[in-house]
Amino acid sequence: MLIRLLRRFLRGYWLVLVGVVLLQGVQALASLYLPDLNASVIDKGVLRGDTGYIERLGVVMLVVTAVQLAFSIGAVYLGSRVSMGLGRDVRRDLFRQVTGFSAQEVNRFGAPSLITRITNDVQQVQMLVLMTSTLAVAAPVTAVGGLVLALRQAPSLSWLLAVSLPVLVAGLVVIVSRMVPQFRFMQERIDGVNRVLREQITGIRVVRAFVREPEETHRFGTVNDGLTATSLRAGRLMAVMFPFVMLVINGSSVAVVWFGGDRIAAGDVTIGSLIAFLSYFTLILTSVMMATFVAVLTPRAAVSAERIGEVLDTAVSVRAPAVPRTVPSLAPLELRDVGFHYPGADAPVLTGVSFTAVAGQTMAVVGSTGSGKTTLVNLVARLIDVTSGAVLMGGVDIRELDPDLLWHRIGLIPQRAYLFSGTVRTNLEYGRPGAGDDELWEALRVAQAADFVAAMPGGLDAPIEQGGTNVSGGQRQRLAIARALVRRPDIYLFDDSFSALDVATDARLRAALRPYTSEAAVVVVAQRVSTIRDADQILVLDHGTPVRLGRHEELLASCPCYVEIVDSQRQERAA
Ligand SMILES: Nc1ncnc2c1ncn2[C@@H]1O[C@H](COP(=O)(O)OP(=O)(O)OP(=O)(O)O)[C@@H](O)[C@H]1O
Ligand SMILES: [Mg+2]
Repeated sequence: MLIRLLRRFLRGYWLVLVGVVLLQGVQALASLYLPDLNASVIDKGVLRGDTGYIERLGVVMLVVTAVQLAFSIGAVYLGSRVSMGLGRDVRRDLFRQVTGFSAQEVNRFGAPSLITRITNDVQQVQMLVLMTSTLAVAAPVTAVGGLVLALRQAPSLSWLLAVSLPVLVAGLVVIVSRMVPQFRFMQERIDGVNRVLREQITGIRVVRAFVREPEETHRFGTVNDGLTATSLRAGRLMAVMFPFVMLVINGSSVAVVWFGGDRIAAGDVTIGSLIAFLSYFTLILTSVMMATFVAVLTPRAAVSAERIGEVLDTAVSVRAPAVPRTVPSLAPLELRDVGFHYPGADAPVLTGVSFTAVAGQTMAVVGSTGSGKTTLVNLVARLIDVTSGAVLMGGVDIRELDPDLLWHRIGLIPQRAYLFSGTVRTNLEYGRPGAGDDELWEALRVAQAADFVAAMPGGLDAPIEQGGTNVSGGQRQRLAIARALVRRPDIYLFDDSFSALDVATDARLRAALRPYTSEAAVVVVAQRVSTIRDADQILVLDHGTPVRLGRHEELLASCPCYVEIVDSQRQERAA
């Protein structure tokens, strides 16, 4: 998965990557050349007292160092560009994919996990690319080159390499193999912390009101400790790793000097060669460590890549057809024997629902709570797809339409009104971008929201907080209605949108709505009978099965279920 992800997202960066490799290669060669020069300076300059030679080679060393510096800066710069660009691209694609998700796919992952995947998991992959392009590319060149050059300088000391290298590698393997499983846990633990945090922060008022703070604190403490424990275990191993590497490097250096002294006395190694050998030795061991460091990041990035891939590979259930059909505006909406089954549920929520809503008429749906009204509205708006039967617009199955066309024709007022952070105006312009002030005010007047918006500081430009938490529930609902009115759609879908209004406001709103929506088809879902008694047709839903379709008076005469609802509400009023 990691490979696939990298191949997909690095495709646009291959030229830069070639640049990184070239820069790193030159940088590594320069760093390999330096000890060799140094050896010459000592053997041919210092020992013979040739100052001119020292100066000449000193300049060369300075130039080589400058080249090395410039090239490694260039490599880090390009590497950072690639990895940051990669992160941006993956996040962009993930975001696009997730915005295309229907409620079903979002539920499958859960919003907190999706957020972790888009932020933290992407960061892990990004980190791997950054480290690889800044550290790991040069490592093999340095290690192999260093090995060859070290052997050339002092073949009689090469057995030291044969001891140190295996010790280093074996130690690193032991440490890293213990670290990898911790990283696998880590992403899941981060998910857990995000999940609990999100639930508690969004539900903070409920937590307070029910004095659940101690329990919730405990619950957060548990997941938080879990993450800490995992990170600590990984961190401890990491903490052991660096001292271990330093120990091997320094121990080897002592050994090189120790045994090298004898060789110099014996005359088969020069002082310059010994110092060069020592430098190569350190270079080799550090590049092995760098490579290991990147190797440590790989499994964690692989886990993250898998989690990212899962999101990218999820087939979106609500999709546009290859060749979308079109329908004329104001086409009637028809439900033909519609059924819906939530995945994993025992029984279908809706079965055999049929009705037609035509322009200029009001179609009402009543039913007790949980009878499937919201599900029905979501099916019409194609937020989810029917599992049997069909929803038709102008005789065309809505699955054969471009979803954008469908959504432009529909004005949905969801049961739980949601407003976005911004101002009243930006929220209303969700209905139709570029709508004039007159249109906005008219919609607000119809929605019975003009008075309170006028009283807000700034009127149309009054700030709205995320979710609309700085206006009351009823105000939020009326703003959501105004937002749909601004759109002037062919079909209005009111999902229990009048429930948070008092009866008088409800009546005034409906009276104002009638002339405004006279051209359109209106579908009203409600629990309150007073809201829908004037509708042209009323569908009574009982546990997802349509019981009867008719006008108020007909239903009163023929539908015991409807009479029951009416009676219960009459008693409520009397009480
Ligand atoms: N995402 C879901 N997954 C599984 N079952 C669900 C889901 N959403 C709703 N249901 C089930 O579907 C049934 C109908 O829910 P729905 O929201 O359509 O009812 P409703 O008529 O709108 O109720 P209310 O009047 O309270 O708004 C409920 O019994 C509920 O348990
Ligand atoms: Mg509902």
